[in-house]
Amino acid sequence: MKTVMSKKGLPLFSKLDSYRYLYNGYREKGFADAKKTIMHHNRLSGYLDKYVGISVGKARILDIGCGQLAKQVALFHAGGARVTGIDIDVPTYTMTSSILLKIIKVNGLERAVKSLFRYFLFDKKFFRELSKEYGKHIEFNNLDTRIMDATEMTFESNSFDFIFSNVVFQHIDNLEGAVKEVNRVLKPSGIAAVHIHLFPSISGGICLDWLHPDQAPSSRVPPWDHLRENKYPVNIHLNKLKINEYREIFRTYMEVVEEQTTTEGEKFLTEAIESQLKTRGFVREDLLTRTVMFFSRKKE
Ligand SMILES: C[S@@+](CC[C@H](N)C(=O)[O-])C[C@H]1O[C@@H](n2cnc3c(N)ncnc32)[C@H](O)[C@@H]1O
Repeated sequence: MKTVMSKKGLPLFSKLDSYRYLYNGYREKGFADAKKTIMHHNRLSGYLDKYVGISVGKARILDIGCGQLAKQVALFHAGGARVTGIDIDVPTYTMTSSILLKIIKVNGLERAVKSLFRYFLFDKKFFRELSKEYGKHIEFNNLDTRIMDATEMTFESNSFDFIFSNVVFQHIDNLEGAVKEVNRVLKPSGIAAVHIHLFPSISGGICLDWLHPDQAPSSRVPPWDHLRENKYPVNIHLNKLKINEYREIFRTYMEVVEEQTTTEGEKFLTEAIESQLKTRGFVREDLLTRTVMFFSRKKE
């Protein structure tokens, strides 16, 4: 099943508002921060070392939902790994007329124009900063990125030593299908590290006003608006699953060896909000857990 992230159907003022926020997000570097990207890369390399015990240069790696810039694919490639990134979106780390035509075909003209603006306004600068932070030129040519759905991968079984995915699975409706596929393509000695942004958290509706609640709370949008009045809807497709629903599926189809969570937003959870959301089926853990990361091994 394809997962579509689009702003189609939003009223014009919401659309313009969301573009303004996206622009500010990029301009202020929160969305394309070279230092954070390298830190994330170092954490991922650490997981490979800790759980699989092989060097980057010897590893066969898969990034599920690598994003249009395929940043981690480029970094692992620079480190000598055989790495593949998959995404349902067209990669835009290089911008040629044929890529532009492909974006128009797959995602429509509006997305193509947006990608073009982003590429020239922000991406090129980001790539330069990334190379500087990394300490050597990061090549964005010759990357192995493929347009592929996580729920229908075309790889052979037992292909990868290390599979990772960053903030992608909350967009996937057929979670069961995706987890089964991860289990299938993972080698018996490998590890999968799947990091998920949880919908019921204060930032989980992906309203840009609440993306960093503890550092920059919103004075405009009420907390947990996406679970309450939803006065500020965001048109990004989310499966809306709770942490226990993810746990059940990961534990059914894989051997979960470790689970890491992060929390946020406690000071905004008043008794009134907590009891209102309890009546809608959300418990305290749902509301305060921002992310979960499942480290899983193959279940035979
Ligand atoms: C929030 S972005 C994260 C991108 C990247 N992992 C990062 O950390 O910058 C989510 C990505 O997941 C991709 N995605 C959503 N559903 C997918 C699916 N079923 N299979 C593969 N990729 C998917 C989207 O196209 C998008 O690029």
